[in-house]
Amino acid sequence: MIVLGLESSCDETGVAVYDTEAGLRAHRVHSQIDLHAAYGGVVPELASRDHVRRLPALVRQVLDDAGLALADMDGIAYTAGPGLAGALLVAAGTAEAMAAAIGVPSLPIHHLEGHLLSPLLSAEPPAFPFVALLVSGGHTQLMAVTGVGEYTLLGESVDDAAGEAFDKTAKLMGLPYPGGPALAALADKGVAGRVSLPRPMIHSGDLNFSFSGLKTAVMTALRDGRHAPEDVAAEFQSAVIDVLSRKARQALKDTGMSRLVVAGGVGANRALRAALDEMARRRQWRVFYPEPELCTDNGAMIAFAGAMRFAAGASGQTDGAVTVKPRWPLDTLEAPSG
Ligand code: KG4
Ligand code: ZN
Repeated sequence: MIVLGLESSCDETGVAVYDTEAGLRAHRVHSQIDLHAAYGGVVPELASRDHVRRLPALVRQVLDDAGLALADMDGIAYTAGPGLAGALLVAAGTAEAMAAAIGVPSLPIHHLEGHLLSPLLSAEPPAFPFVALLVSGGHTQLMAVTGVGEYTLLGESVDDAAGEAFDKTAKLMGLPYPGGPALAALADKGVAGRVSLPRPMIHSGDLNFSFSGLKTAVMTALRDGRHAPEDVAAEFQSAVIDVLSRKARQALKDTGMSRLVVAGGVGANRALRAALDEMARRRQWRVFYPEPELCTDNGAMIAFAGAMRFAAGASGQTDGAVTVKPRWPLDTLEAPSG
């Protein structure tokens, strides 16, 4: 079965073709980073307009790359949420129109399901069950995953997401958008521990997170001018990583699982990977990551999630309804059934 996947939930336009027999046939991403950089963050209206401009050409290119025609698709999957409403509507509208035109079902996909299944696209995919640590710009969640669509929320951020904390802290430090990678690069030049920042909720006993206090602590640490920004960045990164790895460890212990899947943009952070790998090595657990190019938003994870669901018997939509859910809790999903 061959599935076209479309992603336009935020600031990346992504298109891919996934074939349940041949694997990922083609995928392309167009990033809007340059478009939003001047504003220091994503401007929703500009994001939507750019998706409208880019998506049709991207679909054509990906089909060309795959050597396939639109009519070869057996289904069309698209990110239906969570995300920016206007941005989501671009992939949703396009997918529904194309599905109707060639007479195949469409399938609205949850963006975070795409992220958490994306390590299954790598050369050494994890087996079920596993604990997923989802760390993106909008979400920080620990999930117990027993199969496609079988997600139990173990804990999540009560305020800012980890990526959001990186982005907001980077902004107040005067670093360019997108803040996460810029702050991580600065952190690599500094030494953690020269200034002391809190590890919020590390001893809370549950698997929830809180990151909004960290940016205020960074602001205070920078105000007196005694600390090098590099050292503050290093300590900030270290604080986020300490909390994420402690809670991931707890989640694995609590569930008795031995596999950890890390997904979402913050999963690209090298220091986080090193800390999680070290934690796992000591306990004979294994950590799985998506291929680097699939860490941030992309169409491949959406085509893949769609293909998994179609293959498991999901019938999809045929009524042309454009489904977008800007807010959509992941643990409300159901396993596909025929
Ligand atoms: O998953 P993603 O591409 O988009 C969302 O669905 O949110 O994640 C983007 C987030 C941003 O907050 C970005 O700053 C962060 O991931 N990020 C990083 C790194 N690369 C991306 N944060 C820390 N270190 C990185 N290397
Ligand atoms: Zn994402």
